[in-house]
Amino acid sequence: MIWQTLQNPELGCNSYLIGDEVTGQGLVVDPLEALGVDHYVLSAQDLGIDIQMVVETHVHADHASCASELAKALGVPHGISHAAPATFPHQDLKDQEVLKFGMLSVEVWETPGHTPDSISLIIRDLRRGTVPWAVLTGDSLFVGDVGRPDLADANEEAVLEAAKKQHASVHRLMGLPDGVELWPAHYGSSPCGGIFMNKSPHSTIGYEREANPFLTMDLDTFVDQTLRLLKPPPEDAAKLREQNLAGIS
Ligand SMILES: [Fe+2]
Repeated sequence: MIWQTLQNPELGCNSYLIGDEVTGQGLVVDPLEALGVDHYVLSAQDLGIDIQMVVETHVHADHASCASELAKALGVPHGISHAAPATFPHQDLKDQEVLKFGMLSVEVWETPGHTPDSISLIIRDLRRGTVPWAVLTGDSLFVGDVGRPDLADANEEAVLEAAKKQHASVHRLMGLPDGVELWPAHYGSSPCGGIFMNKSPHSTIGYEREANPFLTMDLDTFVDQTLRLLKPPPEDAAKLREQNLAGIS
């Protein structure tokens, strides 16, 4: 498998270029406008990845995405959850759908909570085996923390419901084997998570099972703590979400 994490440390953002090492077929996940379309195209060329799809784990509210622009420039589909009210041309992604890039397999899991349209991507390299190798958790599960539930809709009732969904989603992710690598969309001081987010951009399911305080909380405590520990929302959150929903970068 070919794997490259591309980051914007200023906002604590992870994005990914992943491909099948024999055919080069692959995808980009959560590309950042701060890095720019050319950066992804040139990085893919360097790595020998033929980008066949651009996928977003959710509609971002903390930074500008360049997913639409990149998909358009390359003439490839832009995949996003069917639950995203996106107005740009896109391919709806649904739970348990499997995307194939050569022998690289990407299974979609709907993991709502941070936003109703949040998905996680289970990565398998079928050249090596059928067990999951890694999971891209978007803003569902972070290293040491979980995604905040208030950015898509700040209404009190909606936030409460979203926090309950987040609890179910992170426990679904905990059904993965311990050795699975965990790669979220953010790390460090990103405003998309709480105060326990770790500076490391990655972890494993097994380590988080042991060390992430949110994973041992019952539903009521989880909801209470998630809401109590909310950071100030990202600057221009509503505007960025609207802009990303329209595919403008
Ligand atoms: Fe987010």
